[in-house]
Amino acid sequence: MARIATFDDWIALFRQWQRDIGYDPALIGNYTFEARFADTGSPAIEFGRFRGERKWERLEEVSPGQVRDDLLRLVVYQGDTELASVEQQRNPVQTCPSAHDLKSLARVNREEMRHGWQMAYLLVTCFGETGRAEALKLLERRADQNRRLLGAFNEPVENWIDFYCYTEFVDRDGRYQLTMLSHSAFAPLARSMPPMLEEEKYHLFTGNTGLMRILKAGRIPSTLIQKYFNRWIPVSLDLFGKDSSASALRFYEEGLKGRYDEDPSRPADLAHLNEHARELYVRESQALLDALNELIPPDQPRLRIPDPKFRRSIGEYVGQPYSVDGDLLTPAAYERHLAEVLPGPEDRRRLESIFKEPDWILPVATA
Ligand SMILES: [Fe+2]
Ligand SMILES: [Fe+2]
Repeated sequence: MARIATFDDWIALFRQWQRDIGYDPALIGNYTFEARFADTGSPAIEFGRFRGERKWERLEEVSPGQVRDDLLRLVVYQGDTELASVEQQRNPVQTCPSAHDLKSLARVNREEMRHGWQMAYLLVTCFGETGRAEALKLLERRADQNRRLLGAFNEPVENWIDFYCYTEFVDRDGRYQLTMLSHSAFAPLARSMPPMLEEEKYHLFTGNTGLMRILKAGRIPSTLIQKYFNRWIPVSLDLFGKDSSASALRFYEEGLKGRYDEDPSRPADLAHLNEHARELYVRESQALLDALNELIPPDQPRLRIPDPKFRRSIGEYVGQPYSVDGDLLTPAAYERHLAEVLPGPEDRRRLESIFKEPDWILPVATA
């Protein structure tokens, strides 16, 4: 296995990774990849058992053992998702509806690469030999080989509906994770977050306006779009982790990861940290769906969030045959149900012919 000694070594392998996944260098242009940091306000640890102490600048200040291991794990998982998303979004690159959409996609990809770069920079510069080995692995696990660490980041992104759902729902989870890490007791991690969050806004904007433009164009029925929601919303809910999570509780008590709406004056519900973040996310997503539904003609069904028991890969309902309405089905009925409610070969054929017409999505100027 390859080894790296410096961040420059990692950069050389990152360039190789871009070539290996076949990323078009023209879409990167002269974009400068760099680690960026910005202040997050509080110089003191805001919550958990180290509350009030000065935030840690170097790994040596972090208590050895579990706290260090957990910190490393949080950086690794974050970095893994960033680079995975670029691998996943290769198909849309080849089939863009307009120059504007290609530009947006390329910007999203560049920024995700920079986010991966940022996490690799922390791993290489703060975490010693273990960090360097982990930074290398960020470039080795591939989404198309189903080896990324979290389910959503191995899901196929086949077309532009997938891409807009991805940026609407998966990137939105990303914003929750980054916000929670912006309160981290490990200062270099906390300071990495404001620039990433700033960039993330554009990703969410791309997803939301993309879906609005599709609905306004009125060529793709809401029932078909719903199938893509059924693919992307459950994996996004999974990204919030298990209910009554012991690790979320530990991350909080260690001061490594705060609440999305962290407020030291308001006591945390420590037994339900993941549920709390997921609840805020569902509420926010429901408001977005309400706005999207305004654009759907009265004779078509409204878009909805599938029941939280549907197609979960994490938590209490993992692997259980629940329908999008939350009904428990027999395994055979569930297989039939999945074929009905998720995008299938018939839907793909239908979409392929719709995508051939220029009017399936509203041009940006008139959106
Ligand atoms: Fe990102
Ligand atoms: Fe993003």
